[in-house]
Amino acid sequence: MPGTFFSAEDADLLETVLKSRRDVRGNRFTQEEITDLELDKLIDAALYGPSVGFSQPWEFVIIRDPNIKSAIQEIFSQENLKAADQFQDQKQQEYLRLKLEGISEAPVNLAVFYNPMNGPVLGQTSMKEMGLYSVVCAVQNIWLMARAMNIGVGWVSILDPQKVNEILELPESRRLVAYLCVGKVTEFAELPELETLRWEKRKHKASLVFKDRYDSRFYPENS
Ligand SMILES: Cc1cc2nc3c(=O)[nH]c(=O)nc-3n(C[C@H](O)[C@H](O)[C@H](O)COP(=O)(O)O)c2cc1C
Repeated sequence: MPGTFFSAEDADLLETVLKSRRDVRGNRFTQEEITDLELDKLIDAALYGPSVGFSQPWEFVIIRDPNIKSAIQEIFSQENLKAADQFQDQKQQEYLRLKLEGISEAPVNLAVFYNPMNGPVLGQTSMKEMGLYSVVCAVQNIWLMARAMNIGVGWVSILDPQKVNEILELPESRRLVAYLCVGKVTEFAELPELETLRWEKRKHKASLVFKDRYDSRFYPENS
């Protein structure tokens, strides 16, 4: 609602949604369909995202066709083997045990693309990545709206973007920003799965937020 002022309770509710958003992978999706109405609400959330110069440089491909999903799954498998090669020893073993997508399990896949504008875009004249970042803002809107609707979203980035463009018949100019798996879930995990599996820890706020000047105390390797 334009011009609405929200209450402290509203802000608390938003905080709860933000903090309980999770990346959802294939092990947690159910087969229950996502309705067109639900999907439309997610797309609307994206379309209301901020964008540099109000350029709205996003495009979406909704995928339900199992043949297309399995073609994308195949690309993932190829890329994931290459990814595993980049880790060594124990870490590689751990990597190979991770489930990092839900392409076939999720009833809907949603590919989100950046469509670069011809000519200068207000606000994008110095930092050329701003168009791409705008698309990421749209993705985050989808993720949060989905969480508020108890719908799970998983972001898959272990893909060859050119091959995805070919399969989905996108023009070469379009850049894949996010490949999302969308579906109802058995549960939302309390913590990021990568935290639970001890792959990564949540960083401490004090090591990330600085006052007036950067402080390299936390990063001995930089000093
Ligand atoms: C840009 C981006 C790319 C991601 N790519 C993948 C991916 O390829 N596979 C995966 O399992 N998770 C992927 N994720 C999800 C992250 O692993 C997840 O956000 C992180 O572990 C924190 O967990 P949470 O989202 O549940 O809080 C991606 C997230 C972002 C923001």
